[in-house]
Amino acid sequence: MSTVVEVTHPIKLTERINRIEPSATMAVVAEADKLRGQGIDVVDFGAGEPHFATPAHVKEAAIAAIQANFSKYTAVAGTAELRDAIVHRHAVDFDSDYRREECIASVGGKHALFNAISVLVDHGDEVILPVPYWVSFKDMVRYAGGNCVLLESDEAQGFRVTADMVARLVTPRTKLIILNSPSNPSGAVMSPEDMTAVLQLAHRRGIWVISDECYVYLNYTGKRFSVGSLREYKDRMLVVGSLSKTYAMTGWRLGYTLAPAVIVSAMSKLQSQSTSNPTSIVQKAAVAALKGSQECVEQMRQEYINLRDHVVGGLRAIPGVRCTLPEGAFYAYPNVSEFFGRAGIQSASDVAGRLLREAHVATVPGEGFGTKDHIRISYATSIAELDRGLERMRKFFGAL
Ligand SMILES: Cc1ncc(COP(=O)(O)O)c(C=O)c1O
Repeated sequence: MSTVVEVTHPIKLTERINRIEPSATMAVVAEADKLRGQGIDVVDFGAGEPHFATPAHVKEAAIAAIQANFSKYTAVAGTAELRDAIVHRHAVDFDSDYRREECIASVGGKHALFNAISVLVDHGDEVILPVPYWVSFKDMVRYAGGNCVLLESDEAQGFRVTADMVARLVTPRTKLIILNSPSNPSGAVMSPEDMTAVLQLAHRRGIWVISDECYVYLNYTGKRFSVGSLREYKDRMLVVGSLSKTYAMTGWRLGYTLAPAVIVSAMSKLQSQSTSNPTSIVQKAAVAALKGSQECVEQMRQEYINLRDHVVGGLRAIPGVRCTLPEGAFYAYPNVSEFFGRAGIQSASDVAGRLLREAHVATVPGEGFGTKDHIRISYATSIAELDRGLERMRKFFGAL
């Protein structure tokens, strides 16, 4: 017998939670999971995470931490050992110059970005955000009360962002510029010269820059670069990093921020009232990742280059699909607008939806990243899986 509960007080959520939307990428993952649950064989190009296993020495460090009962609260911003390891790794790899007080570890890069935006952006502040953007930036800014000022980039120029393009959007209300190189979703890499020019501009105008460098090690140009090396502009910038992609540790949740001590201390205050420290055991694993051999990072990078060449070649061979060559991260961002107006398809969402339901290939539609002509393909998978998906896509598009 079911009981009917009478609703006397309608549920009213806050205005701020109604300002944001669920992540577009998570929505695709959920729909693909649902199909798989029905026994359907889905080729998954949706999820933005490495297909590699976490390196053995990192897993062993976590197991040792459990055995040693390293299971208490730690300092909110992470242990001194971890913060020193982050700072040291960054100095060695990128010639940066940070102290422990200028470093905070958080529960993933996403958490670091959320905290950073929360302490910097106020109601009415403008935030310059290059398009296409990673899905969460826009919602994090909105949640903080800020307004995104979108910087449209040109696909024909590989979605390149220059200081001149940024300068045109600066107003007295500009508080922050968000950079993400290599970019999710386009794979575009900003040149060190362009990044330096943006930092110079921001420094001159008193504007903050958050450089999301979660894919900094997955750079295929041969010129790996972090704004952290621009020591003279340190007072205006935040470098956000993550172990998720670099060491195939997405589920472990460990990210960090390198920033002026006053920003780190504000982020730490916020973190102290929400999650507190990142998981103690994960912190030990992270130290092993950062201090151990970096060979695994280079091996994965080489493999991603093979996968990128394979998927871009395969996509370009499909008549009607155009695809720029991504220079970093592990996403291809093909333009599928050629198919709009065919067989009832009007948008990238239609393409992604039909690809999933009819061809059983999961991709993410570009609308969530701010462009209407593209779909995002994560190529962090095996060559065999890429071939299966490409074949299905070839048939699907061929029939339109
Ligand atoms: C551009 C970008 N920034 C940040 C993140 C956050 O990664 P995590 O929270 O796993 O460190 C992601 C994850 O997909 C990303 O693509």
